[in-house]
Amino acid sequence: MHGHILSRRSAFAKNSILEEERIVESLKKKGRKVIELNRGDPPVYFPTPKYIIDAYVNALHANHTGYSRAEGVFELIDAIQRRYSRMYNIAVHEHDVIVTAGITEGLSFLNAALINEGDAAVIFSPYYNQYMSQLRMDGGIPILERYDESNGWNIDTESVRRSLSRLKAQKRLHKVKYMIITNPNNPTGTVLKRSVLEEIADIANDNGVLLVSDEIYDEIVYNGARFTTMSRIAKGMPHVILNGASKDYDATGFRIGYMIVPERDRLSIQLKDKLADLARVRLSVNTPAQYAVAEAMNNVKEHNRALRNMVSSIERSVNYATKRINDNPYLSVVRPNGAFYILPRVDFSSLKLKDDHELVDKLLKSEGVQLTRGSGFGAPSHIRIVALPPKEILGYAMDKIDDFCARNARKR
Ligand SMILES: Cc1ncc(COP(=O)(O)O)c(C=O)c1O
Repeated sequence: MHGHILSRRSAFAKNSILEEERIVESLKKKGRKVIELNRGDPPVYFPTPKYIIDAYVNALHANHTGYSRAEGVFELIDAIQRRYSRMYNIAVHEHDVIVTAGITEGLSFLNAALINEGDAAVIFSPYYNQYMSQLRMDGGIPILERYDESNGWNIDTESVRRSLSRLKAQKRLHKVKYMIITNPNNPTGTVLKRSVLEEIADIANDNGVLLVSDEIYDEIVYNGARFTTMSRIAKGMPHVILNGASKDYDATGFRIGYMIVPERDRLSIQLKDKLADLARVRLSVNTPAQYAVAEAMNNVKEHNRALRNMVSSIERSVNYATKRINDNPYLSVVRPNGAFYILPRVDFSSLKLKDDHELVDKLLKSEGVQLTRGSGFGAPSHIRIVALPPKEILGYAMDKIDDFCARNARKR
């Protein structure tokens, strides 16, 4: 073997959410209890509804076990069309949908279709960490804008407009291939305001930048918030919606996501065709899972029942964890109203811990509570907590976090 076997881009293959797995495994082997609040995996606490499991099993018995149509089976595409029509009054065309192995595969398709070495994408921080890893792995450069904590983690749209004007003046705007937002947001739990979405759509349109909206938590909204899909706001302009079965349908392990790319103009037709080419290159998505998700979407009654239970439990857990965090003198957090994450700010100046790495590492080893460091999301003054578990488990973890902070407090 030569001295350098690994590619340069593979250096970006990092997932901060899973970086402590080895330590967790060894703690568990030693018989230690570990509360894992790092992974946003609903089926761990809310078993995937039985009607969806039955649909999966039925698909197997019906012999749906071969490769599927590369862009997704028509039964699932039809269910997605019905979902968008029912929930958002949006007419999705059958050829505008590409089914992917989770949004995760959709992100890599987007980059494969759009990003040449040195091209850029606008990403808002704190960001869902995969946007950054995948973009960098695919040779792209992030242009970082911000969700503004002092503004409830919404976006200061004027600052985005100014940044794009600057890029235009520097003749670099043509390198910017897309701008991606997450609504509701991971890791902040914010549901973006409609007025902000309208501004963002205008900015993308005025600058000729493709707008991508990751709406994987679109039904996990609470505390009275209202979610607006970008597909309604950006109706007349090129855009991509990313969504999937992982969270709303409580089926992360099925690995079913989808992209909706309305054919608005020559460029979006080119993009959609290229995404279909990419889908054909990887042949197929899990076939029985596609049938199961079609049933999950079409059985509105069962879905609504399961969703109501899950979302009300998440609302209780998130609000409880938020209160406990804000009662801790070293932490503070903006209350989320969507998804199931909370992103507390840490007052490191009052703690004998140098940064979020040290906090997450020591908390895990000494208290058996696993969180994720904020720097993995571009927010080094923060830590991320998955607030899916019920109050009893979260309460235990919060007690441990309180003790840990008190023990590591600087003497004043
Ligand atoms: C904002 C966001 N997008 C995408 C994903 C990944 O989704 P999928 O399971 O569809 O690959 C996640 C998972 O946590 C997420 O939080």
